[in-house]
Amino acid sequence: MLSQALKSLLRPDKRVVVLTGAGISAESGVPTFRGEDGLWKKFRPEELATFDAFISNPQLVWEWYEYRRKLISEVKPNPAHHSLVKMEEYFENFHLITQNVDGLHQKAGSKKVIELHGNIKRNKCIKCGRELEELEFSSKEIPPKCTCGGMLRPDVVWFGEMLPAQAINEAYKVSSLCDIFFSIGTSAVVYPAAHLPVVAKQGGAYLVEINIERTELSDLADEVFLGKAGEITPQIAKAIREA
Ligand code: OAD
Repeated sequence: MLSQALKSLLRPDKRVVVLTGAGISAESGVPTFRGEDGLWKKFRPEELATFDAFISNPQLVWEWYEYRRKLISEVKPNPAHHSLVKMEEYFENFHLITQNVDGLHQKAGSKKVIELHGNIKRNKCIKCGRELEELEFSSKEIPPKCTCGGMLRPDVVWFGEMLPAQAINEAYKVSSLCDIFFSIGTSAVVYPAAHLPVVAKQGGAYLVEINIERTELSDLADEVFLGKAGEITPQIAKAIREA
């Protein structure tokens, strides 16, 4: 199933970068954003995922994130997440970049994860910027308030906002320097994340895509696996054990 070219690259000294999107968590039961059952088919991002939306209707936005937090707290990592833990252990130079805010990579055991779009479990104060974990506030107000009086918001990147500088800078750096780049379960339409595989390819990396359907990236990829992340990623992890 894996090409000879890819198999021959799966050596511990190769520099590997993996970019994941909502599709990797789909088999865990976390809805994706686009596609038939996607969140953006049922909800309007401009009413829920922008700073202006939060200021005009903080309760609604907070409650939508509470609903997603509850959903995420009840799901488990799937074989794709677990396979990436194996890959992190195997490759000496391995970087996992995710657009997901669900924390499932960490739950599976991935040690180092570059989170481009934040993490839904964390909150931050819109006034003083203080970061707080979900359980660190006792206020019953919705949304809860920081000790400085400012409203707390989920620490995720909303439309129109900058990505965390350190995360995106590191993501660009490792992508430009890698030998193999895996794009797993992302529609590859949201920038700047969607630019990373392109940068990797320009830097000479072997580009592999895993997705249930073709994406904007497929024509650029050296190898496209059309299938579920939870089925294909374990095959890659198996191949490294046999390499
Ligand atoms: P999307 O919902 O745009 O895309 C999910 C991708 O996963 C699609 O290409 C699906 O075909 C694919 N997919 C679905 N199930 C799969 C499976 N079992 N195995 C493999 N692939 C599967 O999600 P993202 O690309 O992550 O941003 O979206 C990027 C960003 O857009 C998100 O981080 C979010 C959203 O607006 C913010 O919230 C800032």
